[in-house]
Amino acid sequence: MKTAIYPGSFDPVTNGHLDIILRASKIVDKLIIAPLINFNKVHTFTLDERCRYLQILTAEMKNVEVKPFKGLLVNFARMYNAKIIIRGLRAVTDFEYEFQMALSNRKLDNEIETLFISTSLPYLYLSSGMVKEVARLGGNITDMVPEKIKQFVIDKLEG
Ligand code: PNS
Repeated sequence: MKTAIYPGSFDPVTNGHLDIILRASKIVDKLIIAPLINFNKVHTFTLDERCRYLQILTAEMKNVEVKPFKGLLVNFARMYNAKIIIRGLRAVTDFEYEFQMALSNRKLDNEIETLFISTSLPYLYLSSGMVKEVARLGGNITDMVPEKIKQFVIDKLEG
């Protein structure tokens, strides 16, 4: 059985993330979405909120689970016998950060491969940071986040 981990902050999950989730879930047997518990990073949305939004969006996807993690990603992957880490790639600007992470993870465990999925064109510009900025300033985040969680994001961020 091919199990893959899709780790990230998902602060909050965007349409770009959802696109990667849908596409990755079609090429593996099981996809574990893993929001990070990162004590060094200040997230806008709590871990519970980030997990809940992901669960709402993936409730109908039979081979997708949401499991938060802390610590090293490769240790978490090993716990589930996952040999694949999924990451979405937008533009060249993502590349250096993603390449460094992929090589670090490979150094830590050379049996785990990072698989990059290129973003779909409509989401090339999109990031969680952009969603938060637009929502905080009262802009329209339709098309940026899934409809099912849009109001939660607005309620949290609109001043
Ligand atoms: O969505 P993000 O914030 O870009 O995701 C980053 C994430 C969670 C994938 C990365 O920070 C991570 O894997 N952290 C776990 C700690 C770890 O394993 N570090 C060593 C390899 S980078």
